[in-house]
Amino acid sequence: MYKILDKKLDKLETDSQQAYIQSLKSYVEQLSIEWGRRPTYFIQTFGCQQNENDSEIIAGVLEASGFVLAESYEEADVSAVNTCSIRENADTRLFGHLGILKTLKNENKNRITILCGCMMTQDQHIEKIKKSFSFVDLIFGPHDIYRLPLLLWDTICNNQRIIAVSEENHWHEQTKLPMARSRKFRGLVSIMYGCDNFCTFCIVPYTRGRESSRSYKSILKEIQELISEGYTEVMLLGQNVNAWGKDLRGKVEGPTNFAELLEAVAQNKELKRIRYMSPNPRDIDQQLIDIIGKYNNIEPHMHLPLQSGSNNILKAMRRRHDRERYLEIVEALREARPEITITTDIMVGFPGETEEDFEDTLDLMKQVKFDSAFTFIYSPREGTPAAEYDNQIDQDTITARFNRLVELQNAHSLASNQSVIGKEVEILLEGISHGDDNILTGRTADFRLINISIPAEIRKRLPEIAINQEGLNGDYFEGKYCLVKLTKAKTFSIEGEMTAFDVNL
Ligand code: SAH
Ligand code: SF4
Ligand code: F3S
Repeated sequence: MYKILDKKLDKLETDSQQAYIQSLKSYVEQLSIEWGRRPTYFIQTFGCQQNENDSEIIAGVLEASGFVLAESYEEADVSAVNTCSIRENADTRLFGHLGILKTLKNENKNRITILCGCMMTQDQHIEKIKKSFSFVDLIFGPHDIYRLPLLLWDTICNNQRIIAVSEENHWHEQTKLPMARSRKFRGLVSIMYGCDNFCTFCIVPYTRGRESSRSYKSILKEIQELISEGYTEVMLLGQNVNAWGKDLRGKVEGPTNFAELLEAVAQNKELKRIRYMSPNPRDIDQQLIDIIGKYNNIEPHMHLPLQSGSNNILKAMRRRHDRERYLEIVEALREARPEITITTDIMVGFPGETEEDFEDTLDLMKQVKFDSAFTFIYSPREGTPAAEYDNQIDQDTITARFNRLVELQNAHSLASNQSVIGKEVEILLEGISHGDDNILTGRTADFRLINISIPAEIRKRLPEIAINQEGLNGDYFEGKYCLVKLTKAKTFSIEGEMTAFDVNL
């Protein structure tokens, strides 16, 4: 039987969370002596970068308690899945993973299984887990991460089985939990939580609650910490990142506007690349565009979700911007920062989308020529208004439209990548390529993905630590800069050759 905690979390004792970490630590130390090895953990993260950032906190708490990172569920004593609800395939993937975790639990009852993230806020999933996957030990929602030390203590040390999913996120300001960052190159900084927009297709306002901005001071403090740890790239995160501060207006002293926050971050000259994700067209104003034009270290890239090019559909989606406004923003951005790349999210098959609506999307794409785009098929989400609409589009029409959409976008992406071939650019390295240990990957300031080969004369000057038995040592390169001559454009990436390494740019 699960112990089900109240959905209203009225009080959170910050000090006691730290005390629970200490208690866990003593317990884990004891275990390590008994087992002759340290207990291990593994976290699988689905969804957006905010979920990734949450996983960094979960990892931080586990590491502060003495657990060490394992490479897979199979090697982990504690496994966690941080779930996402945005589209149906995200849900389905969780249930695949639960199959694996069930087998592992059957092999060894002492393994701990944790589920968290957006899917856990939905009753239908909780019911399914209780019924078919009741081996899961701990379930908590996105707002409950702040009481994780207590939840872990009760689960791991007291053998309790807990469901803790609270409704609102009031606790981000009070609690300072440790964080184990997963990358050396892009420090993620959540600056606001939740979303108030209620676009009719979207589950996020239901899973992540109302908009709640972090304080100006605590954001800048985290940025300072990242700088002192050596980060030169940061990414400000929010479901609707440029709505930062709206909920603080009239309640706090000091800046309450995203443009001002971004400017304050940009004034840190140690930061070479400041990114933010995702801005919403409805909250873009000229002040923000001017700041983007003024500071070189703000990325010359904006990911600006469009969803549809049809005003009818945008209205039915409750997006609060129309195609004319979208085009106006693009034009102003390109004027302020001529080298800017613009990427987007587009979906096809929203209920009621006619051929004409779809053609409007293609037409807008032709006008903007996005440098790249995430393309989605509309996925009805239980609990959202659009899922109830009776004018759902049939699968064949959706598939045909999706193929046309992708074909057009691919042509634009390729043309965009072709336009930079021959240039020598600065790359922030992210590690080695998945397919080839002798190829590095990294990004340009305008967020293009580059696969990089190293010519023999540079390779032979690399320190010993840069190369291991399999090839290049990704860990060594991660977070360093190099210069690359771009040689060959592909649709989703560019090939290039390194011309200088570890340059102090
Ligand atoms: N806050 C961002 C979007 C976050 S979700 C914004 O407002 O733009 C990321 C993307 O997932 C969305 O831009 C949208 O294109 C896609 N998405 C969200 N809900 C979806 C659904 N029900 N079906 C298909 N795609 C969806
Ligand atoms: Fe979802 Fe719309 Fe909020 Fe984006 S702005 S998270 S699409 S409700
Ligand atoms: Fe998914 Fe939740 Fe992010 S639904 S996209 S993990 S906010």
